[in-house]
Amino acid sequence: MQEEIYKSPKKRGKIAVFLSGRGSNFLALSDAVQSGSINADIALVFSNKKAAPGLLHAREMGLKTLYLRPKNFDSREAYDERLAEEAKKIEIDLICLAGYMKILTPGLCRKFKNKIINIHPALLPSFPGLHVQQKAIDWGVRFSGATVHFVEAEVDMGPIIIQAVVPVEQDDTEETLSARILKEEHKIYPEAVRLYFEGRLEVRERRVFIT
Ligand code: GAR
Repeated sequence: MQEEIYKSPKKRGKIAVFLSGRGSNFLALSDAVQSGSINADIALVFSNKKAAPGLLHAREMGLKTLYLRPKNFDSREAYDERLAEEAKKIEIDLICLAGYMKILTPGLCRKFKNKIINIHPALLPSFPGLHVQQKAIDWGVRFSGATVHFVEAEVDMGPIIIQAVVPVEQDDTEETLSARILKEEHKIYPEAVRLYFEGRLEVRERRVFIT
């Protein structure tokens, strides 16, 4: 069977950021867009949480925002179908999950294959899921970090684009380790998106090559 290869587009792109909370990764992406290091515009900031600080911030910045109330939909599939419609309507090239805490349906992942990326505060495939900084401390690992990866239907899985490593100190708390990791997240997420729209990411099966 011939190997399937995906190459990211070299173009000025349109990004949608999906978030559920604070939005510091959204702001890191927005800074990189404004400074011109990412060749794209943030065309939509979406949230499943009405009062997400990141969403309010985006609104203040004059960006297009959208909130969909999950309870207004019969199923997760219906919710994600509507979301996909909205994203297609404005011709989104790349969806950046930035602390989006709702699991995407397989349908949405299929519709946007190779067009959804996520940041996760651990060195995947170790520690997927929630409270992963505390889990890293509890396991006694010496190093943790952050991962930017393409999204597949499984939670926190998919071809890895960039990772950053940080040490785990003996006196770390969830807060101190999270802060150390977050600093790296703010570097590697814009970097991954920059590479994406420079047409430099090549996905071959599980592996991402930076060309
Ligand atoms: C970040 O640490 C991000 O890596 C994490 O949520 C936080 C959001 O912070 N995402 C996940 O855990 C995804 N599984 P932010 O709202 O300040 O960007």
